[in-house]
Amino acid sequence: MNYKVLTADQAAAYINHGDIVGFSGFTPAGSPKEVPSAIARRAEEAHNRGEAYKIGIYTGASTGDSLDGALGRANAIQFRTPYQSCKDSRAVINSGDAHYFDMHLSHLAQELRYGFMPKPKFAVVEACDVTDDGEIVPTSGVGILPTICRLADHIIVELNVAAPKALRGIHDIFEPNDPPCREAIPVYHVSDRNGLPYTKVDPAKILCVVHTNRPNEVDSFTPIDETTAQIGRNVADFLAAEIKAGRIPKSFLPIQSGVGNIANAVLASLGSNQDIPDFEMYTEVIQDSVIDLMKQGRVKFASGCSLTVSKAVLSEVYADMEFFKKRIVLRSQEISNNPEVARRLGLITINTALEADIFGNINSTHVLGTKMMNGIGGSGDFTRNAYISIFTTPATAKGGNISAIVPMVSHIDHSEHSVKILITEYGVADLRGKSPIERAYTIIEKCVAPEYKELLHRYLATAPQGHTPLNLNTCFAMHRALAETGDMHNAQI
Ligand code: COA
Repeated sequence: MNYKVLTADQAAAYINHGDIVGFSGFTPAGSPKEVPSAIARRAEEAHNRGEAYKIGIYTGASTGDSLDGALGRANAIQFRTPYQSCKDSRAVINSGDAHYFDMHLSHLAQELRYGFMPKPKFAVVEACDVTDDGEIVPTSGVGILPTICRLADHIIVELNVAAPKALRGIHDIFEPNDPPCREAIPVYHVSDRNGLPYTKVDPAKILCVVHTNRPNEVDSFTPIDETTAQIGRNVADFLAAEIKAGRIPKSFLPIQSGVGNIANAVLASLGSNQDIPDFEMYTEVIQDSVIDLMKQGRVKFASGCSLTVSKAVLSEVYADMEFFKKRIVLRSQEISNNPEVARRLGLITINTALEADIFGNINSTHVLGTKMMNGIGGSGDFTRNAYISIFTTPATAKGGNISAIVPMVSHIDHSEHSVKILITEYGVADLRGKSPIERAYTIIEKCVAPEYKELLHRYLATAPQGHTPLNLNTCFAMHRALAETGDMHNAQI
């Protein structure tokens, strides 16, 4: 290998206060680990000397503790986009120490190319292989790797031997041309490939290679409990009934499934429902349940941006690359989440809400409208362009003190126009073809926890009637009760 080999601290020494850095990966999968931790150390040393040190950060989505965690704890983030889900980055975002702007994941690469945001000076990318002629093979997640490698002045490659070189061939790397007159993205089936198994860069831009063998930092999932299992069964039963009714083709449609514990449980239920045919996935995050279902033959093929699986499951995949390379393709997020492809393939999209209102608006991101949880991620890319869009949520949170269904959401990520189906452990609200008042009665009847039904009925009865009944005095009464007393049951409606 012709490249200069440096330690992570030597590589981080190139990155100065005010620099903008793009990182590869998507979730902790494929995100670099050594260099961001070294940047955090550099920031801490600068802060101890009384000097300013913060960087601007572009990532694919959330990352691991050695990136968002370390840089958050070091208070080294000037600005950051898009999705994050780490408590330490969340803390600096919500304290105002870091500027965070939340974006649809499919938009990021093209908006960097369009010049809507400053281009990164450095791309720090994790690879399982890098060749002398500039082929960079990502590891278990891609994210914005192709675009940051092209736009950045300098590339730092973290060569991670914990990811086998046999990953070469699982990726499909393709950057669309920019408007006007962008050509069609030639993905007509979930498994179509139209790019290269690596990103090709000018080798002169590769500043150095940093060696590591650090494993991925994906947490294991919370075991499925009765609530999440019931939500999963409700989703599966709903989809089986849609096939029977002829509204979904008998051969079924590809599934997109969101992130987190609920999404993982929903997929397990789909897999075990006899009335759901074997299916394909066109999604961003391939979680543990997908790999389980693939081994059982229930998932025939999965297109995603990352293998966000627990350590044990990742070892299984790495041990049988020949099997999984025939059944998985990893793409950049611009393609895995592409609205054009989502609409063409006819995706059934299943994402999770923090809260929903009785009219079908969804808040996926902000607690009490104020505190950022994670971000919109790819949920908007998929929801707005779905064949049928589903949102799931447990009907209550925090031991019942929070109703996930409220008179009006405190922040809107997905509007009533994009949301077709709402599902909790209590049932399924089908919002298609319904006016706001019809939606409200359906959601209260089917989805709300029994203990909150009366409160929401009272809200509707006391709201001035119009096309959308809205009481300006009480639409946030449940949120106010939560903020002031810690319990929505105390709402004055
Ligand atoms: N108000 C306050 N907190 C709430 C809440 C509400 N209405 N609803 C849930 N919570 C809390 C839960 O209590 C839990 O807190 P804890 O971590 O302290 O236990 C936390 O939010 C996460 O909820 P959980 O029920 O475990 O759900 P999850 O792990 O499935 O995550 C989202 C749910 C909404 C946070 C997550 O799906 C997300 O970030 N979505 C947006 C991005 C997205 O959809 N991406 C996928 C696109 S492909």
